[in-house]
Amino acid sequence: MISCAKNPYAFIDAEVLKVTDETSNIKTFTLRPRADISFRAGQFMEVTLPGIGEAPFTPSSNHNFKETLDFTIMSAGRVTKLLHQAKAGDVIGLRGPYGAKYPLDVFKGKEVFIVGGGVGLAPLRALLYALFNDVNDYKKIILRYGARSPSDIVYKGEIDSWKTKAGHVDIMVSCDVGDPSWNGHVGLVTTILKTEGLDVNNAVAIVCGPPIMMKFATFKLLDLGFKDSQIYLSMEKNMSCGIGKCGHCRIGPYYACKDGPVFSYDKIKGLPNIWD
Ligand SMILES: Cc1cc2nc3c(=O)[nH]c(=O)nc-3n(C[C@H](O)[C@H](O)[C@H](O)COP(=O)(O)OP(=O)(O)OC[C@H]3O[C@@H](n4cnc5c(N)ncnc54)[C@H](O)[C@@H]3O)c2cc1C
Ligand code: FES
Repeated sequence: MISCAKNPYAFIDAEVLKVTDETSNIKTFTLRPRADISFRAGQFMEVTLPGIGEAPFTPSSNHNFKETLDFTIMSAGRVTKLLHQAKAGDVIGLRGPYGAKYPLDVFKGKEVFIVGGGVGLAPLRALLYALFNDVNDYKKIILRYGARSPSDIVYKGEIDSWKTKAGHVDIMVSCDVGDPSWNGHVGLVTTILKTEGLDVNNAVAIVCGPPIMMKFATFKLLDLGFKDSQIYLSMEKNMSCGIGKCGHCRIGPYYACKDGPVFSYDKIKGLPNIWD
């Protein structure tokens, strides 16, 4: 008998419904997959340009929305530069979702302290929407977001609306460098990580951003009294297959694509090159 195993690299067609310019090099693509895709916040998918290549991205939309998915994508290299040329009506491919989700059950009843940098707010937007779905299950939701400059802030039109989701959502944005239009805080995101009014013993911290920001934010959180096991990191390691076959994404004994990309710091602390 001939076995017809399913091709693990097969992708689903998805139509580009809308392209939103977030910054000069970041766009949000709203896609309508032509088959059901159900992801949980924190998981990622491979976005495919047929005949060209694919790259991993975390959906940035509410995982409760089944009809459409958002991906917020920074133009970095070959695949992303071509993706940035996609327009409404184009069809691209999606495979996944893959990897570990944020452990929302662990976060319940706690103060959830979220730290984002740059386009790292994309997976955190999916997390925020997941928290907002059951906002009263969490004691407090705190977002501290850093961008290089006011023009590098993503989701500008949305961030203010997140503050009104419930009485216990607290959001602060900082820019490394200000400009005349900016009357918010100026400084690296680590300068707005403070624990006044926060019960660190009953909190978790979630960090996503460029590796250097993740490193210093993690060290600051440890200084503030968070334990290794209370800090969750989205490890966006270079990936290829996305399904635990090629070894590109290894972090010590783990594969970021299968065992992560979300890891608690105690699990990976001390492993080589985690901040690269
Ligand atoms: C699980 C996961 C989720 C991700 N989610 C998002 C997202 O939501 N939005 C987003 O904009 N990006 C995200 N990324 C990063 C994204 O996958 C890369 O920017 C993309 O693969 C670059 O592909 P490219 O072909 O355009 O660039 P390439 O031509 O492959 O490389 C361009 C440059 O980017 C560097 N690079 C490539 N991949 C990575 C990476 N993973 N981390 C750091 N540097 C890299 C290369 O070393 C090179 O310097 C995610 C990555 C992972 C692993
Ligand atoms: S990307 Fe191939 S093993 Fe993780």
